Amino acid sequence: MNVKTLKTNKHSWNEAAERFYGRNPLPEYGPMAPSEDNLNLFGDITNLKVLDIGCGSGHSLQYMNERNAAELWGLDLSEKQLNAARSLLENCTTPVKLFESPMEENPGLPHDYFDIVYSIYALGWTTNLDKTLANINKYLKQGGVFIFSWEHPLHSRVSIESGVLTLDKSYHEEGPYDHEGWGNPAIMQQFKVSTYINSLINCGFKIEQVIEDVYYSEEDIQRHENRWYSFEKAKSIPTTIIIKSRKLKLE
Ligand SMILES: C[S@@+](CC[C@H](N)C(=O)[O-])C[C@H]1O[C@@H](n2cnc3c(N)ncnc32)[C@H](O)[C@@H]1O
Repeated sequence: MNVKTLKTNKHSWNEAAERFYGRNPLPEYGPMAPSEDNLNLFGDITNLKVLDIGCGSGHSLQYMNERNAAELWGLDLSEKQLNAARSLLENCTTPVKLFESPMEENPGLPHDYFDIVYSIYALGWTTNLDKTLANINKYLKQGGVFIFSWEHPLHSRVSIESGVLTLDKSYHEEGPYDHEGWGNPAIMQQFKVSTYINSLINCGFKIEQVIEDVYYSEEDIQRHENRWYSFEKAKSIPTTIIIKSRKLKLE
């Protein structure tokens, strides 16, 4: 765990929180990615205990509530995001428990407890992928499901200008990088697709589905004309990777 990076990112997320309230939460998996309505990765959530890693403003937990989850648990680094989640979820009849913590640490979450752990556009902030996935594996019951979405590893390595794609950074290069386009320093981690997959396998997960598809409506084309996730770029490379995995049952 890199304490300095976490401190920097906590500050940046507290400053930037409002810009991200409700940005692409479930049923969306990310900008111009197929949604849960198309993919049905979660299936029926009724009466299931769910945990959201990097729950942000709580909008994906709200989606879980609307689908009759039994318990809503969330963890996030930023107190500003958690305050927003608290007010969004205050009228839920379902029990809600929110923890202010880096995902690299267990702030007191139970082991062998959750039917589903998920993370929407948060996992790539971790300063220790193996530790984070090992934690998630412990929180899940045997056979429980872990689903995450994150920016596709190619996306930030490739830029586009006048329709021409340029590879700015080697695909092989991994580790921390300063994310451009944030008002304050924000340090993200760059992993390869194989690193996510191998780390999941090493932490006791069985991969069930990997999705790299791009999906856009007419509205998305307008909405993503000139942004970090541009429609022009999405025509050639995925914006988002989604992986569904399951905690292996002991033989
Ligand atoms: C894009 S937002 C998540 C959106 C949210 N999952 C949703 O569905 O609406 C990313 C979140 O990751 C959180 N975050 C960043 N680094 C973290 C870390 N190391 N541990 C836990 N949360 C972290 C940020 O505070 C932020 O709320």
